[in-house]
Amino acid sequence: MSKMVFGRYALIGLCIVLTALTSAQSPKRPSFAEPIPNATAAVGREAVLQCTIDNLDTYKVAWIKVDTETLLSYHTHVIPRDNRLKVTNSNSDRQWFLHIKNLDVSDRGFYMCQINTEPMISEKGYLDVTVPPSIVEEDTSTDITVDERSKVSMRCKAAGYPKPRVIWRREDGKEINLGPMGAQKSSVLRMEGEFLNMTQVTREDMGAYLCIASNGIPPSVSKRILLHVNFQPKIRVLNQMVGAALSSDVVLGCRLEASPRPLTSWIRNDGVILLNNKKYELTEEADSYRINMQLKIKNLEEKDFGHYKCVAKNTLGDKEGFVRLIEISPPTSIPHSTQSQEFYVPVHKGSSDVSKNDSPMKKGYGIPAPNSLRDESQSLSSEEKQLSSSKDGSILDTDTPKRKQNQHPTQGSQTDSSGLCQSRFSIPVQLAFLLAVLLFD
Ligand SMILES: *[C@@H]1O[C@H](CO)[C@@H](O)[C@H](O)[C@H]1NC(C)=O
Ligand SMILES: *[C@@H]1O[C@H](CO)[C@@H](O)[C@H](O)[C@H]1NC(C)=O
Repeated sequence: MSKMVFGRYALIGLCIVLTALTSAQSPKRPSFAEPIPNATAAVGREAVLQCTIDNLDTYKVAWIKVDTETLLSYHTHVIPRDNRLKVTNSNSDRQWFLHIKNLDVSDRGFYMCQINTEPMISEKGYLDVTVPPSIVEEDTSTDITVDERSKVSMRCKAAGYPKPRVIWRREDGKEINLGPMGAQKSSVLRMEGEFLNMTQVTREDMGAYLCIASNGIPPSVSKRILLHVNFQPKIRVLNQMVGAALSSDVVLGCRLEASPRPLTSWIRNDGVILLNNKKYELTEEADSYRINMQLKIKNLEEKDFGHYKCVAKNTLGDKEGFVRLIEISPPTSIPHSTQSQEFYVPVHKGSSDVSKNDSPMKKGYGIPAPNSLRDESQSLSSEEKQLSSSKDGSILDTDTPKRKQNQHPTQGSQTDSSGLCQSRFSIPVQLAFLLAVLLFD
């Protein structure tokens, strides 16, 4: 027992001797209680580095910026003339804080906490200064205008620290058409990267594109780039033949697609360009490159029956669409006959779904599917088709001899057409329809 006690004293004694040898003034040397925690803060904000020391006693603490070897502070004194810096201490000199306000990216780096022992002791901590994302405007695309089927490359250059991620998407949430890849069209909802390359743009690709840059440091930023795709006008006439009674009002319509926005007009068969007035009401509704143009003719008179054309013209070309207005007798006995201004006569024998109520005109007139388009020549020929179908014994059978004169609505006289039509279309609309259904079902 006593032997063990003696041994322990001997050990303590040895320790005292060793301590006295290494440090003459103080029995306990200062030491770091823990590593300096790394700090991270965004540019413009404040960061605090913390150095925790045991047994500092009368020794002094200095902060040093490692990369520039700058002495920043000694005890509580800030050395450089930099009022962003401040040193505080707490907990009876155990904790020493270096505060840096209004951070700059140049503040990023290692900081050393040093104690003036002999030899000195130190430890280092890292300050990371983050930078929220930003768009580098000079390297980023502005709005783009191209012709259809060209390729487009949009760029969005983002700066920030850490390096931002750039995501592309369409503002309207539709898929981005990257263009044909092999045989297939490749579309994505989102695309990542500085560039958005599209190999063959179509009119559907027109719209606003957003590039969004983010790096985890708020706020994320985005840039809106408008893509304009130019193409020449296309015209689709839904009802190429419209029937209306004397003294009634009628609306003729043309659907256009064009970009840039075309100049449009309605022209009567005598070449007169129609303007808004008591007789005519011209309206135009545009949804991006799609335009719905309508002509309302009020209080129909004999001379109003005949051909009309809608015309659209832009920098890439012009197109015309034709509508024929024919006279019908006012609706009579059949109930629900209030809105019988438009009617459709089937053309092709064997069109199977003429009887379907929703769109009998589709097959009847050989009008293409709603999203396809026709131009002037097509609409003409379809009208011819429709007229010539009378040979096949449709209800237009009185038409055949006279129609040759009326083949070209633009050139020549169709003034007689209204009289012709009158005799031709005296059957009430619903009746004609029923007949058509019976004939072609
Ligand atoms: C502090 O940051 C430096 C530099 O990024 C790194 O090497 C070190 O491991 C980090 N220390 C801690 C405790 O995270
Ligand atoms: C996109 O196009 C740009 C130039 O127009 C090119 O530098 C870039 O490499 C292309 N990016 C991709 C992913 O094809």
